This record gives sequence, structure tokens and C-alpha cells, in this order.
Amino acid sequence: MNQDEEKRKAAHAAMRYVEPGMVVGVGTGSTVAHFIDALAERRHDIAGAVSSSQWSTQRLKERGIEVLDLNTTGDLPLYVDGADECDDQRCLIKGGGAALTREKIVAAAARQFVCVIDASKRVEVLGRFPLPVEVIPMARSLVARAIVKLGGQPVWRDGVVTDNGNWILDVHNLRISQPVELERELNQIAGVVCVGLFAARRADVVLIGDQVMG
Ligand code: A5P
Repeated sequence: MNQDEEKRKAAHAAMRYVEPGMVVGVGTGSTVAHFIDALAERRHDIAGAVSSSQWSTQRLKERGIEVLDLNTTGDLPLYVDGADECDDQRCLIKGGGAALTREKIVAAAARQFVCVIDASKRVEVLGRFPLPVEVIPMARSLVARAIVKLGGQPVWRDGVVTDNGNWILDVHNLRISQPVELERELNQIAGVVCVGLFAARRADVVLIGDQVMG
């Protein structure tokens, strides 16, 4: 099975978690694109969606799905999103599409986080995929120097501005064997808006194609 077909299968398998009347938290990326398409077929059956990016908002609206404000919905029953890497503990690296901050917010609001990936995303130890870190623009260099002291090699994703008006550093050369600790440590650097490590709030269920990761 090719990668896109596996992404599509995972997205369709995630529809099993969608129940009538739900407000569904929706992530960002090519796997979620399939999920939005599947969700559109049941748009009259759900109360709406909370989106994690301008890109997803546009796709949801184009398909007739109402996009709701997280400030008015309260907690969500379900969040569905992809990932760039996933370890055996369901900790994730996310943010390849620069949407990590809003993704983390919607994930934090959700009682269940279903992560949809293809098999290439599964790793023993996180870090082969460069870890995205969203930073306040004026702090880019300050944050980069702090990350170097921690052993990472930050590379500015030049030309990319996030939905929140910030910049992204992609951190290479990390072998993340203690994701919860590293997430906490990086969060403490002044100027860091969000770290693309989803460990404190990790996925509850990971679907690789249509199989639940055991
Ligand atoms: C967006 O910022 C990311 O967190 C995506 O969820 C992640 O990059 C997965 O994307 P794909 O589904 O396109 O592989």
C-alpha cells in the first residue's frame, strides 16, 4: 500500500470515533485532508468543527462544515490529527506544516486525541524528523543559542510565518529518549511559543492505516 493510501485509510478509520452531534477538533496536513473529506460526508450529523489552522478552516468551510470558536465550544470530545513522528508511547513530533501551536491548543481541549499516520511515521526514538519550535520573531536567535546549548542544531525555516505571526526553528540532531522532560525544558526558554513535541498531551489512540497501534 502506498503512503497516501495508508493516510487515507487511517483518516477513514478515525471516522469510527465520530459520533452524532459532536463538535470535532480537526488537525492539519495531508492525512487530515482525507479526514475532512470523510467528515464532509457526515456534515449534517455533527455539530461542527474546531480548526487548528487557517488551511484546515478553509478546507472545512469549502466542504460545508461549520467552523466553531474554541472559546464558545468548551472542551471537545475528540481531536483527530496527523503527526510527523510517533514513538511506542504515543508521543509525537508535530509541526511539519507549521501549525503546531493551534494543534496543541485543540489537542489540550480534547478528551480523546486520535492520531492518524502511515507506517513511515513510526519510530523507536523521536528526533530523526527535525523538531519544530515556534518562536516570537525577535527571540529567534536567543532561542537558537539556548537550543544549541542543549545539543540541538536549530535551522530557521526561512520565509515561513505561522498563523500566529511567528517563526519556526527546526531542531536537528536530537535523540529524544525523554520527550516529556525535553518538552518541559524547551517550553521554559523565553521566546518559545510552542514546541512540536506532543508528550505531556500525547495521542490516546494511534491509527496506522486502519490498524490501531498496539
Ligand atoms: C502540521 O503542522 C503537522 O503537525 C501535521 O500534523 C503533520 O506534519 C502531519 O502531516 P501529514 O499528515 O501531511 O503527513
